[in-house]
Amino acid sequence: MSVEVRDYRPGDEQAWLRCRVLAFLGTAYFDDVCTSKPVPRRGAALVAVDDDAASGERGPAIAGVLDLSVDGSLATIDTIAVHPDFRGAGIGTALFEQARIRAAALGAVTIDAWTRDDEQTLAWYRARGFAESEHYLHVYADYYVSAAEPPAAVRARPGLQPMKVFLHAPLAREAEMRRTFRRVHVCRRFAQPVTGT
Ligand SMILES: CC(C)(COP(=O)(O)OP(=O)(O)OC[C@H]1O[C@@H](n2cnc3c(N)ncnc32)[C@H](O)[C@@H]1OP(=O)(O)O)[C@@H](O)C(=O)NCCC(=O)NCCS
Repeated sequence: MSVEVRDYRPGDEQAWLRCRVLAFLGTAYFDDVCTSKPVPRRGAALVAVDDDAASGERGPAIAGVLDLSVDGSLATIDTIAVHPDFRGAGIGTALFEQARIRAAALGAVTIDAWTRDDEQTLAWYRARGFAESEHYLHVYADYYVSAAEPPAAVRARPGLQPMKVFLHAPLAREAEMRRTFRRVHVCRRFAQPVTGT
């Protein structure tokens, strides 16, 4: 397998979307689906392309994607996703190394990312030198899990029935949230200095 990391091009969009949705499918972000590629205001949009696979109607064979936003001295990884068929082959690391170089070139001194509670992903960030901080909760109140969940989260306006509610909550309320709602994620920040290597 020969994989090249390069800048995203408009013709990559369909393959980019498919890579991201498949990468997230088995994770805590399984329902975080984009139907068009977000455009970072200032930063970098990188793709890892499998040079051995034929380029099809939906664009090149994209094995991994990384979007980076730079705001002053802070670079944030908005998306990092490696297609499940290409995991564990160094693609995520290659994307991250390139992102770090771009972050340094744009004047960032810190690079960070926010993620939920997938053990393999957490291990990946730690092994890449990120330190963990700043935790809070992502909570879903879903009528189809229990009719009692949405009313436990919000007060409905007359004539409106909340079916699914997404909430942020402080980590200190984790036990209470888990007693009340089935889907609760701990979201946390990973950060490290940008070295520009
Ligand atoms: C996390 C992720 C980007 C890593 O990319 P990758 O190309 O598989 O990782 P690399 O090959 O560069 O690194 C391999 C390491 O990642 C670990 N790893 C993490 N998730 C893995 C997975 N699902 N499959 C295989 N290895 C995985 C391996 O254990 C290996 O550890 P080691 O270096 O200590 O041996 C990728 O697994 C992924 O897309 N996960 C799902 C999407 C996601 O959670 N994105 C982050 C949301 S903020």
